[in-house]
Amino acid sequence: MSKIESAALQHRSVRQFADVALSEEQLRTLEAIAQATATSKFMQQFSLIRVSDPELKRQIAAVTTYDYVAGPGQLYVFVLDQARNVRLVESVHGDLHQLTNWDALLGCVFDATLAAQNMVAAAERSGLGTVYLGSVLNDPRRMIELLHLPRYTFPLLGLKVGVPADVPAIKPRWPRSAVVGVDKYPHIDAEALRDYDTTIKKYYAGRATNAKDNTYTQYIQQHLVDSMHHRDDIGAILRAQGFDLPQ
Ligand SMILES: Cc1cc2nc3c(=O)[nH]c(=O)nc-3n(C[C@H](O)[C@H](O)[C@H](O)COP(=O)(O)O)c2cc1C
Repeated sequence: MSKIESAALQHRSVRQFADVALSEEQLRTLEAIAQATATSKFMQQFSLIRVSDPELKRQIAAVTTYDYVAGPGQLYVFVLDQARNVRLVESVHGDLHQLTNWDALLGCVFDATLAAQNMVAAAERSGLGTVYLGSVLNDPRRMIELLHLPRYTFPLLGLKVGVPADVPAIKPRWPRSAVVGVDKYPHIDAEALRDYDTTIKKYYAGRATNAKDNTYTQYIQQHLVDSMHHRDDIGAILRAQGFDLPQ
């Protein structure tokens, strides 16, 4: 197996980082890699905010509810961004629909997500650890305020990157047969799903920190009753930011 494959297959999210700042050169390389990523329709629809102010980091950590976000490790926020494109054309073109509709929003999500993952892959290949922070969506309005985000932008995803202080066990994924189909949707094999429940139960029980007694089915069941209703207004916030989406 090549070194690159082995880094990719060794992926695990890292949430504890050593108190070692990444150099300006390391950060600029990671940022350049994010920018070099393929971009839907060549529209370059994301911005990247490097968080350097410790107080701002603390305030973003409060949005995520995770203390480790305020600790060591570089914090970034990936922002969906049509503001630059709107700026280029709004004085000559009244109808901005094609920059603000669902297709444009998906373009932003593709660009920001792929750029983030390119950064993650590069960081992991160089021995750094990373964790995504979808939890910035706990309070997008607060994120918009904290980061001074203009109209036609939206804070999609946080990312921490740094020197790992802890290397967690790899989280087992579905068996290949449950996920990969040839020419059609993969066959749902009840036995494979049951086996995976057992695999995850063992993984959770044997984990060094935050051990628990859960199957994967129980984990998904828990998600149904977790209180996530504060995220129901993401659509309304996107509309308020200028995205032209149906109710
Ligand atoms: C879009 C996205 C958002 C995520 N948000 C968070 C988060 O807010 N906090 C966190 O601790 N982990 C977050 N994660 C990490 C996942 O929990 C993690 O990838 C998953 O549990 C699988 O574990 P692994 O990455 O170690 O394989 C996120 C991952 C993705 C892809």
